[in-house]
Amino acid sequence: MSSKQPIGVFDSGIGGTTVLKELVELMPNEDFIYYADSANAPYGPKSKEAIIQLCVKNVEWLLARNCKLIVVACNTATTNAIAFLRAKYHIPFIGIEPAIKPAALRSKTQHIGVLATLGTLTSPLFHKTLLDHANGVVIHNVIGKGLVEHIEKGDFNSDKLKKIVLNYLTPLIQKEIDYLVLGCTHYPFLKPILSTFLPDHIIVIDSGEAVAKQTLNVLKQKGLKYQTNNENGNIHYFSNGNIEILEKAHNLHFIDKKMHFIDI
Ligand code: DGL
Repeated sequence: MSSKQPIGVFDSGIGGTTVLKELVELMPNEDFIYYADSANAPYGPKSKEAIIQLCVKNVEWLLARNCKLIVVACNTATTNAIAFLRAKYHIPFIGIEPAIKPAALRSKTQHIGVLATLGTLTSPLFHKTLLDHANGVVIHNVIGKGLVEHIEKGDFNSDKLKKIVLNYLTPLIQKEIDYLVLGCTHYPFLKPILSTFLPDHIIVIDSGEAVAKQTLNVLKQKGLKYQTNNENGNIHYFSNGNIEILEKAHNLHFIDKKMHFIDI
């Protein structure tokens, strides 16, 4: 294993690019391979077994491209499959989970909202996180049914999407939450809509930055951090769905960043 090898990142679609953005910001010198499994999105309503199978496929694909570490940039995949992946493969995996701990620690109203997929909210790992970190705070879970489908089509702000989002937010606002945890990597694309509907005192929180920091720590620990002064690492994007949507996501996140888009 060499530090020059790329970092693999995958998601059920374009959602993981919200994590990739944080990774690149923190480690601009690293090369990244991003794999969007858009043909199989959404993962949220699928069974644990089906999610594990898709993750194995994605991991094998990234390993064939020589990745030194893989970021599972999907809450649904992490909460259902990361233990399996870590047991099966001998490279480091970094996962992403809803940011319950920081939200619960900071909440003044003692009520927080979590917007995530069915697969994440019903997973044993998510329940363990609640037991370990909810700290007496009341957690209001909402399944973001239908949101990923809109975002995967490149729809980040249609009236139809706004209506769905408002339906999910209204009961949470009534519960007097002061933190809204985005437990799906697709949902940061909704931040402009969220900010129009949420009162100013409700803080929206996601885990992208924490995942980037954790990735850097693990690379350092394992001696896999690429040591170079060149801050222009490459991003190679692969999609088995619509590559143009991935390009749209890239252009939202990055300005002047080298990239290569490949349809598979
Ligand atoms: N972006 C994913 C997540 O973080 C998956 C969404 C889906 O495919 O349902 O959960």
